[in-house]
Amino acid sequence: MSFSIIILAAGQGKRMQSNLPKVLHTIGGVPMVEHVIKTAETLAPKNILVVYGNQGEKLKAALSHHTNLIFVEQPEPKGTGNAVLNALPYLNEEEKVLILCADTPLISPPILQDFIRTTDDAELGILTAHAFPPAGLGRIIRDPKNQLIRIVEEKEASPEEREITEFNTGVYWVSTQKLRAWLPKLTCSNAQQEYYLTDIVPLALQENLEVRTFLTPSSTEVLGINDKQQLAVIERIYQISQAQNLMDKGVTVVDPARLDVRGKVHIGKDVRLDINVILEGEVTLEEGVNIGPNVIIKNAILKKGTEVLANSIIDGASIGPYASVGPFARIRPGTVLHEKAKVGNFVEIKNANIGESTKVNHLSYIGDAVLGKHVNIGAGTITCNYDGQHKYQTIIGDYAFIGSDTQIVAPITIGEGVTVGAGTTVLKDVPSYHLIHNIIQQRNVVKEK
Ligand code: UD1
Ligand code: CA
Repeated sequence: MSFSIIILAAGQGKRMQSNLPKVLHTIGGVPMVEHVIKTAETLAPKNILVVYGNQGEKLKAALSHHTNLIFVEQPEPKGTGNAVLNALPYLNEEEKVLILCADTPLISPPILQDFIRTTDDAELGILTAHAFPPAGLGRIIRDPKNQLIRIVEEKEASPEEREITEFNTGVYWVSTQKLRAWLPKLTCSNAQQEYYLTDIVPLALQENLEVRTFLTPSSTEVLGINDKQQLAVIERIYQISQAQNLMDKGVTVVDPARLDVRGKVHIGKDVRLDINVILEGEVTLEEGVNIGPNVIIKNAILKKGTEVLANSIIDGASIGPYASVGPFARIRPGTVLHEKAKVGNFVEIKNANIGESTKVNHLSYIGDAVLGKHVNIGAGTITCNYDGQHKYQTIIGDYAFIGSDTQIVAPITIGEGVTVGAGTTVLKDVPSYHLIHNIIQQRNVVKEK
């Protein structure tokens, strides 16, 4: 069956109190409209039309990676009915249309497939659900025979109508032909002076056509976002479902209410996530990876058996296998920690390749560096990689031992097996198997009491 999908995204989103268009606010780090587009794509429609409003440039820029969308302008935000009216010229007379709202990001393909199947032989299908309370939502008004007679927006609802918990989810299944007949007849004589798409219900009934509702039991999936409180509620619902997905794959999630996934996670067996972990972008956690509390991991691969201790931040790195990071470590983009490497507390590593079993255990900065295997970096070691204009590289050979409080001024190469005495400023290359120091000789002078 050929059909198209219209995604309504032109509303002003006034209730968000924000300069950012409502539908670009994120759920799980992804703009809410993007969630709806992904769901729409899985249904394989002929076309996906996105109706945009006055902030269309921002919306188009955010969605520029999609090449299959048809953008339709709604010149003024005159309501949901007017939004669909603007999309009509892009639709084929013969096809059916699924209408979705960009502010309802959690809606899933199975619900939509059931909805379409159940309402397909009626002239108009409407997806409904129950909410407790259904604040701000359009209520489903039925006659004594339980037939839908109209949808009333909360602003126009009587106190009795407000008691109704069944609401319009804003999802419709209808033919282009009927929309072409009904939409020009809508008026805006209501509390918001808008053309309500919901008013096509009485128009269909006047023609004795069948309007069929499909009540989904999954009310959390169909909740819309109009304000920041609803944004937070939907974010948490989304995050709990992410945590459940991970637990279903065998991950130990210490507290599913305190995990945030803002991207995609590839997961191995026996991974453990402690509380307040944030996973962002594309993250791979291989078998046996153990993440401590308050850890942020972004666009990184953590190989088998790696552990990250509390309060560490990892961004753009490949770590392990069997490496250890933290507590309180910061790993910045371009870093590779090889097998059994160890980066300890208050250490910053940037764009560095740290060899197998090498240790940087305390209070150090290693930037733009290549460290061999089994190197020991003493506490307080700094690679001086920047002269104010350019960045330079530090190379340290296998088995080198760098004493505490050492400054290594790049560009520089320290050879294999070198020992650097504590407190040294290393200015020149050091050949392999040398001991170097530049400590000023100590004098003990008697003090007067
Ligand atoms: C709408 C429904 C309400 C339903 C609720 C479900 C109407 C009149 N009301 O109310 O019955 O319970 O959704 O969440 O349809 N939009 C445009 N152009 C406009 C106005 C809105 O494209 O001129 C888009 C918005 O970007 C949004 C969607 O349509 O994605 C719904 O608009 P919104 O203003 O949020 O409607 P609600 O008050 O939530
Ligand atoms: Ca809404």
